[in-house]
Amino acid sequence: MSDEPEEQDVRLEARLTEQDTFEPSEEFVEQANVSDPSIYEEFEDEWPECWEQAADFLEWESEYDEVLLEDDAPTYQWFAGGELNASYNCLDRHVEDGRGDAVAIEWEGEPGESRTYTYSELLAEVEALAATLRELGVEEDDVVTMYMPMIVELPIAMLACARIGAPHSVVFAGFSAEALATRMNDADSEYLLTADGYYRRGDALDHLSKTDEGLADVDRETTTVVVDRLGDELEHELGEGQYDYDELVAEHEGESVEPVPRDAEDMLFLMYTSGTTGKPKGVKHTTAGYLAYAAWTSHAVLDLEPEDTYWCSADIGWITGHSYIVYGPLTLGTTTVMYEGTPDYPEKDRFWQIVEDYEVDVFYTAPTAVRAFMKWGTEYPEKRDLSSLRLLGTVGEPINPRAWKWYYKHIGGEECPIVDTWWQTETGGHMITTLPGVCDMKPGAAGPGLPGHDVRIVDAKGEEVESGRAGYLTVQKPWPGMLRTLYRNDERFLNEYWIEYSDPEADEWVYFPEDGAKVDDDGYITVLGRVDDVINVAGHRLGTMEVESATVGVEGVAEAAVVGGDHDLKGEAVYIYAIVEDGREPGEDLEAEIVEAIVDGIGPIAKPEQIIFTPELPKTRSGKIMRRLLEDIASGTDIGNTSTLRNPEVVEDIQEQVSDD
Ligand code: WTA
Repeated sequence: MSDEPEEQDVRLEARLTEQDTFEPSEEFVEQANVSDPSIYEEFEDEWPECWEQAADFLEWESEYDEVLLEDDAPTYQWFAGGELNASYNCLDRHVEDGRGDAVAIEWEGEPGESRTYTYSELLAEVEALAATLRELGVEEDDVVTMYMPMIVELPIAMLACARIGAPHSVVFAGFSAEALATRMNDADSEYLLTADGYYRRGDALDHLSKTDEGLADVDRETTTVVVDRLGDELEHELGEGQYDYDELVAEHEGESVEPVPRDAEDMLFLMYTSGTTGKPKGVKHTTAGYLAYAAWTSHAVLDLEPEDTYWCSADIGWITGHSYIVYGPLTLGTTTVMYEGTPDYPEKDRFWQIVEDYEVDVFYTAPTAVRAFMKWGTEYPEKRDLSSLRLLGTVGEPINPRAWKWYYKHIGGEECPIVDTWWQTETGGHMITTLPGVCDMKPGAAGPGLPGHDVRIVDAKGEEVESGRAGYLTVQKPWPGMLRTLYRNDERFLNEYWIEYSDPEADEWVYFPEDGAKVDDDGYITVLGRVDDVINVAGHRLGTMEVESATVGVEGVAEAAVVGGDHDLKGEAVYIYAIVEDGREPGEDLEAEIVEAIVDGIGPIAKPEQIIFTPELPKTRSGKIMRRLLEDIASGTDIGNTSTLRNPEVVEDIQEQVSDD
């Protein structure tokens, strides 16, 4: 050590005073929806009846008989016997309560225009679209696909489907034509709502051509409704079976469509997500359990009140947008903000301009965004008045303590608690996080399991590991928002998520989210990332197998291994190691072809950070690709012992290539 002793003392002191636990302010706690710590005990003692509290956020057409049915575990049923309608719960009830003039959605387009929908206006348009869909032939239980950007017509379409009992399947607009076709075919979906385009960083993007390309690969005859988002910016023509949204809705303006009573366990929507195989899986969510859980977590974790203006910057094409832009906030009667574009257009203060203009109370975003804000510097948030903020949240990936502290200080002004929410497409809503009015916060750790949850970190044998040690995250009790199955694939549902233990001490069925984690002595869980072949790029979930299959589809590529490597901004990025067939030159041309194949097969979010051509992949003696090693090389971390490899000589060569770029 070169420092003088006094300097060393100062540095040690600084470490001691480094604050690693943050308390919510008294002011926040006083007004919080949940502030009594006894909720944890109460939910434990009264499980599963505690979840009636979630059901109480809903208006029921007929009461349920049972909170939980476990007969067919792990296919559980929640609130069985009850009947309700999700669109009624998000709209009519508020209008009937005299809140028809309250704002439901504040929408801002990237070029700067805005649209405000009150609950009455939203209901009217949902009814007109529901009537339209019926006229087009949509019946109860038909799966309707949406391939739409962040425009108000997307939540309107979801709610119109919910109203007539047609489950929706929203496909992220950034996904490719091929991804659209795969999902429509898997769901046998014959109806599609889409848009001509949208704005990205000032450009009008053509979305309809991509839609048409996808539709060409759909097996069934389809009916498509197209929203004209771009007006004169982009002329478009409608083909056979395609209709203009505005025209149809105008024809049905003023019509009322009664909300169809749905059984509690009826499917509300399907959401395709990435898994271990190359084929995305259709996660099935139900009407009552999902909606109750989205509402309860919005109340308890996001602390939403009907009077709040709340903004979640996710895209509705992901589960976060479903639960926490649409269903949770609207069930509670809150004002939910939607923004079409990127955070750095026209300037890097765009998000803070939105917070200022709409006086946003609660803001929910991804750690990737926080890391970008941090990189851009404090001058952007400092230009704006952020004093309306009361609570901040993050979702989708781990947040590193440095980014957490930056967010806390520069966005929250050291006054807003932060909820770091761990959950998944499959869980429907938050699972592990602090309750902001109850718990202290520890940057980097999501928090304890929410009340009513039994979350444990176990080893490969299912035994709990000591605190501080890494293990597998498990959830040992069912919860209302859980997925019920994978669409038309009960077997995969069972195999991928559940393990049955015969130990009478443990609950019989245990849910495996496929994440690694550790827990500290206070029960705070730090999520360490996926343990399956899924990577998390900028909070977006990608299957490495999907990227691999697109890569090996390129002529001249013999074999490929795709892994996630650490990335300063995105958390993880895609790295491709590819072996080229004899006679094909590895080089820029082939790289470009691979990138194109990935963009066509999945979408731009899956673009690789680097493609490394190699004559061989490192393999174990039994011939398995050493992915862990490839990940370490991509991340630039120590690769440790390579003696178990059949071909250790390739490692150095690969390492050199990665660090050269
Ligand atoms: C990761 C997004 C750490 C995790 C809602 C999970 C997180 C996957 C967090 C699900 C968090 C999500 N801390 N990791 N707060 N939130 N993850 O289905 O690996 O798109 O399994 O759902 O994201 O991604 P999905």
